Parts: sequence; structure tokens; C-alpha cells
Amino acid sequence: MTSETIVGNLEVGSASVEIIKQAAQIIKSGGLVAFPTETVYGLGANALDESACAKIYQVKGRPSDNPLIVHISKEFGLEQMARKVPTGAKALIDAFSPGPLTVILPARPGVFAHGYGDTIALRVPGGMVAKLLIHHAGVPIAAPSANISGRPSPTTASHVLADLEGKIDMVLDGGPCKHGVESTVIDFSTDIPKILRPGSITQEMITEIIGKVEMAEGIEPAKSPGMKYKHYAPNAKMTLVEGDNAPAKILQILEQSEARNPIILAPTADKAKYGQAPLILLGRRPEEIAANIYAALRHCDELGHDEIFVQGVAETGIGVAVMNRLRKAADREEC
Ligand code: TXA
Ligand code: MG
Repeated sequence: MTSETIVGNLEVGSASVEIIKQAAQIIKSGGLVAFPTETVYGLGANALDESACAKIYQVKGRPSDNPLIVHISKEFGLEQMARKVPTGAKALIDAFSPGPLTVILPARPGVFAHGYGDTIALRVPGGMVAKLLIHHAGVPIAAPSANISGRPSPTTASHVLADLEGKIDMVLDGGPCKHGVESTVIDFSTDIPKILRPGSITQEMITEIIGKVEMAEGIEPAKSPGMKYKHYAPNAKMTLVEGDNAPAKILQILEQSEARNPIILAPTADKAKYGQAPLILLGRRPEEIAANIYAALRHCDELGHDEIFVQGVAETGIGVAVMNRLRKAADREEC
């Protein structure tokens, strides 16, 4: 298997297109390329090449029952992969694609593998690099997040290299991702559409376009296989603390903790409440916190922290997605 990962730096103007063409060639010949999307970095392979897709599972250590999202463009892929596109799905794709939206649709017979049962997850990613990569590859690209399974998703090329250097053929370095949490996954294979994974496209935004939509409660392994596994987690022990009193509570637990090197992650607005305690600030606006959260969790591991206390955020807008990921990453929760 691959022993050297090419790093394609895309901050060099016109040369970028040549680098993306090289990456597209690798995809076409059955290799693996990590690339930036507007959400997180994906680990891409030709979705029509079964053995290329098998390599994704191998290098990530991904459970074989967890299907892949297939990345397409507005111009091609939808009809090729989906047997039927319900009106609601069509309306959402029109409204939010390219963008952080994944729709689960009935799959065409013969579309192998990365579907679940007879469904397929499809997404038109935003961001110029992803768009150009799909365009030049000329095939749908299967891509989960480009991390070792269970680790926080990568939002920079260096996060990808930390997990996968030497195991994949190339990473396209397009700088940090805009949103920082994965796409909203919405299932259209049942009568009432259901959000399986919250993201930047919120339930309210979806309701405005298609009316009633359900939110999957807790973990529904039968519907979204990936959600039953531990996810997004740093190596350090992680405690998530929620509620208005969270800063005081965190300081109290910290005081009793036996951690050698603990750290707190909290919104910038609450800085003063933590006094001299060791602190990483996540930003002010919810969108900023979402964009920073995975990088902050990885940073804690790099700095050798053995216990992380994370202050929860309000569950509105993108905050719903942030709390969904934090709950899955945490070893314990306190209210
Ligand atoms: O923003 C994103 O969606 C990123 C970027 C790279 O596009 N991708 C991503 O992929 O987050 P991944 O594999 O880390 O998460 C895909 C999620 C998993 O929870 C998986 O179980 C679910 O989508 N999924 C995929 N196909 C499905 C299907 N046919 N039915 C139900 N859930 C599905
Ligand atoms: Mg993932």
C-alpha cells in the first residue's frame, strides 16, 4: 500500500488546477485522495470502483457496516445513483446544494456497496476544490471524513496527515474548512423525511422549504449505521458539562479531579468565569465554535492533556450539531 502521501498545496494560484487534475487522475486510477469540503476534509475514492472504496475502510479502520456518502456535482451523479428523487429531496437540493446537505435516497439497482439496504447517501459539496475535483475526476466520489475512525473529523490538511500520512496517495491542502461540522444528513427513504445527523442546514431551514421533518432521536442504528459507534473523540478523557451553571460546575469537578494535566474548552464570552484555570477559548459566535471544536479537541491531545472539560453550548441553530457531536465524543456528561 501507499507509503508516501503527496501534499498538494493549493495556495499557489494557477498551479492549483494542475494539482487538482493530478488528484483527479489518482481517483480515476483507484487511489485515495483527501480533499477539503466546506464541512470537513473527506477521504475520496471513485464511488464506482469497489476495490478503491474497500481501501477507504481499510485505512480508516472503518466498520464495514457503515456506508459512505457519495459526492456528486449538480451536473452529474444524482440520476446515476438514485432510483427516485422525491419532490422534497429535489426542493432541498435546489435550495441548499452545493452545500452541507446529504440526502438519503432509494438507490438504483446495481449501485453497490456504500448504500445501506437499498438506499444511497448523496451530497453536492461546496467549496471550489471539491467541485473541481469531482469535475475533473468525472466520476462520483465516495468520501467519509478523512480521519481514523472514532477520532475528531479533520478540518485542516495537517489533521488528515496526523491520522493518515503514508496510508493515502494525496491530500489537497485548501486551508481550514468553513463550517467545521459534517453535513446535515436527511433520510428521504421513508414517508416523513427524518434528519439523521444535524448540521449547518438546520431543522428550521429544512422546514421552511419542505414543511414537516422529523429529528431522529438518540441513536437509531437501523437507520443510520454510523451513529452507533463512538465518534469524534480525543484520546484524553472528556467530560461535557451542560447548563447555565456549567462554568462553576466545571471548576468544582476540576478541583476534585486527579488529572495530571487537565484543560477546559469554553466559549470566549465566559472567559472571566474561569479565573486562572487552564483554558482554550472556542470563539464567540456559535458558527465560530463549530468551526473550531474539532481542531481544539485534537490540539488537547497534541499538548498531552489527559482530561478535557467541555462547556456545552445552547442547542439552537448550529448549536444542535455541535452538541450532537460533543455528546458522542464525551466519556461522561454532567448537567
Ligand atoms: O460533511 C460530510 O458529510 C463529510 C464530508 C467529507 O462530506 N462526510 C462525512 O462522512 O461526514 P462520514 O462517513 O464521516 O459520515 C457519513 C454518515 C454516517 O453516519 C453514515 O452512517 C451515514 O452518513 N450514512 C451514509 N450512507 C447512509 C445510508 N445509506 N443510510 C443512512 N445513513 C447513511
Ligand atoms: Mg466521520
